[in-house]
Amino acid sequence: MSYKELLRPQIHFSPKQNWMNDPNGCVFYKGVYHLYFQHHPHDNEWGPMHWGHAESADLIHWEEKDIALYPSKKLGMAFSGSAVVDDDNLSGFFPEGEGLLAYYTNHLEQEDGIPGLQQQSLAWSSNEGLTWNEYENNPIIKNPGLVDFRDPKVFYHELSKRWIMVLSGGYSVLFYSSDDLLLWEKSGEINIGNSFGVVECPDLFPVKTESGRLVWLLTVSFLSTMSPDLPTVRYFPGDFNGTTFTPFSGIKEGLVSDYGRDFYAAQSWSGIPQADGRKIWIGWCNHWEYSNQIPTQPWRGVMSIPRELFLDENEVIPVLKQLPVEEFKALRKSTESIRDINDDGFVLPLDPDLSHEFIIKVQKPAECDFIIFFNYLKKEKWKLEWHSKEALLELDRSSLVSSGFNNLFIKTSVVEVTDLKEGPSNQELDLRIILDRSIVEIFILGGKFVMTSQIFPSYPLVSLTVSTVCGGRIREFIHHTLDSIWLDK
Ligand code: FRU
Repeated sequence: MSYKELLRPQIHFSPKQNWMNDPNGCVFYKGVYHLYFQHHPHDNEWGPMHWGHAESADLIHWEEKDIALYPSKKLGMAFSGSAVVDDDNLSGFFPEGEGLLAYYTNHLEQEDGIPGLQQQSLAWSSNEGLTWNEYENNPIIKNPGLVDFRDPKVFYHELSKRWIMVLSGGYSVLFYSSDDLLLWEKSGEINIGNSFGVVECPDLFPVKTESGRLVWLLTVSFLSTMSPDLPTVRYFPGDFNGTTFTPFSGIKEGLVSDYGRDFYAAQSWSGIPQADGRKIWIGWCNHWEYSNQIPTQPWRGVMSIPRELFLDENEVIPVLKQLPVEEFKALRKSTESIRDINDDGFVLPLDPDLSHEFIIKVQKPAECDFIIFFNYLKKEKWKLEWHSKEALLELDRSSLVSSGFNNLFIKTSVVEVTDLKEGPSNQELDLRIILDRSIVEIFILGGKFVMTSQIFPSYPLVSLTVSTVCGGRIREFIHHTLDSIWLDK
C-alpha cells in the first residue's frame, strides 16, 4: 500500500481502503494511542459497521491494525463507542490485573421502515487492544424504548468515585453511572433541544483553565438533517456533579466548535496520564449530507489532526481553543518566511508531493482585505478570503472541478472572527492553515476559531497567490513544508 494517491492526506489518518466514519475507542494504554473507527471493510460506502483500528506512539504516525470489532449476529452492527483502561480489574475480566474495555452500540437493522434497535454492549481485551471479546451478557444496557440510543462515552469521575457514561438519546444526552463497569444505572439526562437535529456522539470532560479552574465541557455532534448548513459540533461549558450537568447560563444552544462543514463526531482520549494532563480530541472530517459521495478511492474518510483543547478565560464564559497537538511540529521539514507584504502580493510555488503549513500574521485586520488562491495545474483553484469590515473568513471550494457532486459541498463556509469585530482595533489576526491534499484545517487566533474543510482538486498543486489591498499590513507569512507520515509505509 503506497498512500500515494493524488487526494490521499499525507499527515492525517485515513484507512488504507474502504469506508471510515467516527473515531471510536480513543484510549492511551502502555505508551500507545489507540484510534478505533467506524469502518466498512468491504466497501467504500457506509454499511455493516465494524471497528477498524490504528495505533500510534505520537498521535501523528499511525499504523493500521486488524479489525477490532465485528457486527454481532444476534445484536447487529458495532456502532460508535469508547474505551477505557480497567486498571483495578473491576470488571473481573483480567485476572492478571488490568486490561481494556470497549463500550459501543449494537444496532440491529429492522425491515419495513421500522427503525433499528440500538443497545449498549461491552467488549474486553487482554492483549493491549489488538483483539476483543464480546461480553457474553450483552447488551449491558437494553433499549428503553428510544429510536436513537447510542454512542456511549465512558470516563471515571474523581469526585463521585464512579464511572460515568454519556449517551445520545434523541434530543437529549443521557447519563448513566456504575461502580463495577458492568452494571449501569441511569442517573440523569439533559435535553439539548431540537434546534439542530438528533444528538450523536456526546462527550463530557473537564478542561483546566490557565488559572487552574476546572470547567466541564459537554460536547455533541448534531445529525443536521434539518439544517445541514449549520456547524455540526457544539459544546456546552458548565458544571458536572456526577449525576447532573448544568450548563453555564447564557449558552442555551451551545457554542460552535468548528465553522467548517467537515468536522464531526469528535471524541476525546481517555487514559492520558495525569503527568501529561492534556485533553486531546479528534474528529471525522466529513459531513453526513455528502460523505458517501466524496470522490476519493480506494478509501473514503479521514480524521482531523488530533487537537489539544484549552480554555480561553478572557470571555465571561470560558471558550474552547483547539490546536494541533505539539507532536505535529516534528513534521516540519523546511521553513521560509516572507515579511511585510506590499500590495503587489506574491506567488509562492508549492511542492505538490508535500503537505504545507502557513502561518499568517496581519496587523490591523479591520483595514486589510486579502485573498489567498490555492492554484493547481490546468488553472484549477480554490480560495480563502478575508473580509476586513465584517471580520469574516470565507472558504470557497466551489470552483474546483469535482466540487459539484453535492449542493451543500459547493456552498462557502464562513467564520466571523467576532473578537476582531468588537475587540480593540490594534488586535492582530493570526491564521494557521494546514493544507494536506484533500483536507485543510484552519486555526484562527490561537485556535479560538477553527474551520475544517475537505477540498478535492483534480490536478496537482502548483502554488498559492496572495492578493491584498493592505498597505503592508500582512506582517509575516511563514511557510513550513511537512513530511508525510506514510514515508516508511
Ligand atoms: C455518527 C453516527 C453515530 C453512529 C455511527 C454509525 O456519525 O451516526 O451516531 O453510532 O455514526 O456509523
